Amino acid sequence: MMVDNSDIPEVVARKPLMPEGTGDPELPDDRSVVCEFDNTWYSYGGGEPAVESVSFQVRRGDFAAILGPNGSGKTTLLRLALGLLKPSRGSVELFGESSSRFRDWSRVGYVPQRVEGLGTRFPATVEEIVEQGLYRGFDPLAIFRRHGQKKVLDALEVAGISHLRQRAIESLSVGQRQRALIARAIVGDPELLFLDEPVSGVDAVGRDRFHELISSLNKEHNMTVFLISHDIGAVMQGATVCACINRTVVFHGAPHSLTGEHLSELYGFPVDVLLHDALHEHR
Ligand SMILES: Nc1ncnc2c1ncn2[C@@H]1O[C@H](COP(=O)(O)OP(=O)(O)O)[C@@H](O)[C@H]1O
Ligand SMILES: [Mg+2]
Repeated sequence: MMVDNSDIPEVVARKPLMPEGTGDPELPDDRSVVCEFDNTWYSYGGGEPAVESVSFQVRRGDFAAILGPNGSGKTTLLRLALGLLKPSRGSVELFGESSSRFRDWSRVGYVPQRVEGLGTRFPATVEEIVEQGLYRGFDPLAIFRRHGQKKVLDALEVAGISHLRQRAIESLSVGQRQRALIARAIVGDPELLFLDEPVSGVDAVGRDRFHELISSLNKEHNMTVFLISHDIGAVMQGATVCACINRTVVFHGAPHSLTGEHLSELYGFPVDVLLHDALHEHR
């Protein structure tokens, strides 16, 4: 079932992701909007829109999972959110400010889709890669000298790679590199963490552990998470809200109300059987 674009704001209003003041002990009291797409459009080079009339919000405390087939506009949404692209129409806001004007990047962490090339130009250690995450703002070195080492050690610990601290990044497995990138993204203790398909190329066990880590960043470390992923079943275990994208929003709501039909429509083939267990286990 295709959601009529004009209905999206109403759907959001009627069925808030997590309404303010739910009294849910797992959620922060502050449920303000941290990222908002409002009738956002984007076309590369003025051609066919890659993103069309997308509207949804991510609130503080959410673990938002963004699902969609290849080429459906997920990474484009992320580039828009990070202010790397400007919407052709509509708006994208971070913490209530247009993302193209937003400057307070210490509040935001980002784990990119591709990790190839990382550390291949120079033999960086895991620790050095993670330290890079602190080099922001007007006086990063001063901050680093005062608190940096402790922050780096904490981030490595949270990411579960303390033991890899001195290793060359290029000597690590894909999954370990992803963790190093996560440590780099969280070392400044961001409020909002964006991740773009961080587990492609990681085996099933690595993916499960990875999703446990993201859930703990969300629940125990109070980070709002915006995760683009293909791993539907695993995402359902931790996500508090889900947006399915195929240029526009096909579904938006609580993961447990996402059905096999939504997913079949999204991916264009029946995924019902495949997903049955994953979805129903976590309802
Ligand atoms: N830099 C670019 N220049 C032109 N077209 C692009 C560029 N990046 C992505 N696209 C196109 O935009 C659409 C959405 O891409 P993308 O956002 O990367 O999708 P996803 O991340 O869901 O796989 C695709 O048709 C893709 O080919
Ligand atoms: Mg992508």
